[in-house]
Amino acid sequence: MQDVIQWLKENGNLKIIDQPLDVALEIPHVAYIEVKKEDSRPLLFTHPVNRAKGIEYETPVLMNIFANKEITQKIFGKHPDEVAKGIEGLLKLKPPKSFKEKLAMLPRLFSLKNVFPKRLGFRGECQEVVIPKEAVDLDRLPILKTWEEDGGPFITMGQVYTQSLDGTMQNLGMYRLQQYDKQRLGMHWQIHKDASHFFDQYQRAGKKMPVTVAIGGDPLYIWCGQAPMPHGMFEMLLYGFVRNKNAQLVKSLTNDIYIPRDVDIVIEGFVDPEKMEIEGPFGDHTGYYTLKEPFPVMEVETITMKKDPVFAATVVGKPPLEDKYMGWATERVFLPMLKPMAPDLIDYYMPENGVFHNLIIAKMQVHYPGHAQQFMHAFWGVGQMSFVKHAIFVGEDAPALEDHEAFSEHVLNRLSKERILITQGIVDHLDHSANEQFVGGKLGIDATGEEIEAGMEALLDDAVLLERMREIDSDIVALKQYMTYTNNPVCVIAVNKRRSQLELMQELQVLQAHIRVLVIVDAANNDIGDPYMLIWRVVNNIDAQRDVQLKGFIGVDATNKGKVDSFEREWPGDTFCTKTVLDSLQEEGLIDIDDTFIKKFGLLPFNQE
Ligand SMILES: Cc1cc2nc3c(=O)[nH]c(=O)nc-3n(C[C@H](O)[C@H](O)[C@H](O)COP(=O)(O)O)c2cc1C
Repeated sequence: MQDVIQWLKENGNLKIIDQPLDVALEIPHVAYIEVKKEDSRPLLFTHPVNRAKGIEYETPVLMNIFANKEITQKIFGKHPDEVAKGIEGLLKLKPPKSFKEKLAMLPRLFSLKNVFPKRLGFRGECQEVVIPKEAVDLDRLPILKTWEEDGGPFITMGQVYTQSLDGTMQNLGMYRLQQYDKQRLGMHWQIHKDASHFFDQYQRAGKKMPVTVAIGGDPLYIWCGQAPMPHGMFEMLLYGFVRNKNAQLVKSLTNDIYIPRDVDIVIEGFVDPEKMEIEGPFGDHTGYYTLKEPFPVMEVETITMKKDPVFAATVVGKPPLEDKYMGWATERVFLPMLKPMAPDLIDYYMPENGVFHNLIIAKMQVHYPGHAQQFMHAFWGVGQMSFVKHAIFVGEDAPALEDHEAFSEHVLNRLSKERILITQGIVDHLDHSANEQFVGGKLGIDATGEEIEAGMEALLDDAVLLERMREIDSDIVALKQYMTYTNNPVCVIAVNKRRSQLELMQELQVLQAHIRVLVIVDAANNDIGDPYMLIWRVVNNIDAQRDVQLKGFIGVDATNKGKVDSFEREWPGDTFCTKTVLDSLQEEGLIDIDDTFIKKFGLLPFNQE
């Protein structure tokens, strides 16, 4: 990572912050603000401290390595589309028919030899310094506490290396790790993830599971850790493919797990399947806290490191954040891998304010009735794509998927209740909206085909429509209509919620002539003039089976759920910055934000702005 720092200085406009800053809230807040800017930069904090524990760390903290698309592309060494092309070429590989074809295939086959990781028989640079078990002290690492209500400090860019019980499968996954004390970490591998499947095997066999966590090294390791590779495929193959260079792995000192030789810090240990501990809360990439839940615990056996290590970390919370850029590369690289199951897929896009698993939009060639629905089922049935809650499909005549305005117009002109599919399936471990954890509503919109004929009967002004609605329910406090020039204007209302909003929707049916799509949000902490954060809120908060009604107008209840909705689970809170921390960082000139910025990204609760 020292090389990465040098590289980022030359290629990534690295910003170096020498001022002592606390690992609790201060460093994460600076990084959080930075990556939301248009021209965001990677940050190096050279003097991390922990004032509460009286620690001055020797190890610097590097954040926002994937600060923008340009750096992400430079880390790959090529555009992610180029990687996708290479994968597509491999997937389409056909047996050569002639000697000439055989010869032409040789370079490609020859380069494949670089895909497979190499196991080295000696120690790596990451093992220059060895801290034995009795001296292990996780407090020596500058582990960050991002949010005020986090259950503790968390390693947020840990590469977690595991292997199956029989040792035939290896895995790299990026899972956050809660620091419990000097020697124990919480393993937040979610139920659907590969390490969790391995853990089940060890648990059934009643055996301790070896785990090695690596931090730093080539940033591409970090990206590979979050890449949704099919179960059983080691992410280091993808590393070798992108770099066209074998990953060089060395054996952990206290277990049989192999890790890249050049990572900065290595934490080795075992997970005892008998012992679980409460993990969280943690302000997550959904922009909500994930609630407390038991997870396996790793007992650290040894820590090894380079002589001069760097601690890589990231902040998750409300979008846009660093995962936007990592996710962009993932989306591009994985397009060809979706095509075998959906051959007429042209392109897809997961906007970051849909936090990836809440919204996907896709363009396809339509060949027969029901084709879009066939794709919906395919997506909802395969790998991590099956976590996606809401999917919108358009035909090849649609505008570019990233042209938000034109795309919305195209969809709204085609939206009809008859072409909405609501069903049920698995949802992401982090989803908080489903009545039951892990299983929830799915909504698919088939916006392929022709525009609908009937549009809005009678459009009213915002003020007039609000007044008419308030005659029905005075808890409706604000209203804004979007895309009024389309066949389906979207009317967003903010309410001071005191009852089920499904009841309200029933009562509002008398205004059917003036409403095509109605979206209800809580007045607290929602700015109905900010479509970016509204989309984030709506796709996070709804369970389509419960919250979407298709009688009269299309109604969407995106309010927080609770007792009045017979919702039994705990509803988590938003991730908010700590005002005093923002104020002091602003005073010291470490951040430069104004009220518009604070409001735009929902940094503070409304009552503190
Ligand atoms: C910054 C960041 C943090 C993440 N944290 C977690 C986590 O704590 N738990 C988890 O299961 N997945 C987490 N993920 C997603 C996984 O890394 C991703 O699903 C990956 O494909 C899992 O690998 P696997 O399929 O090999 O298990 C995170 C992703 C990112 C970008």
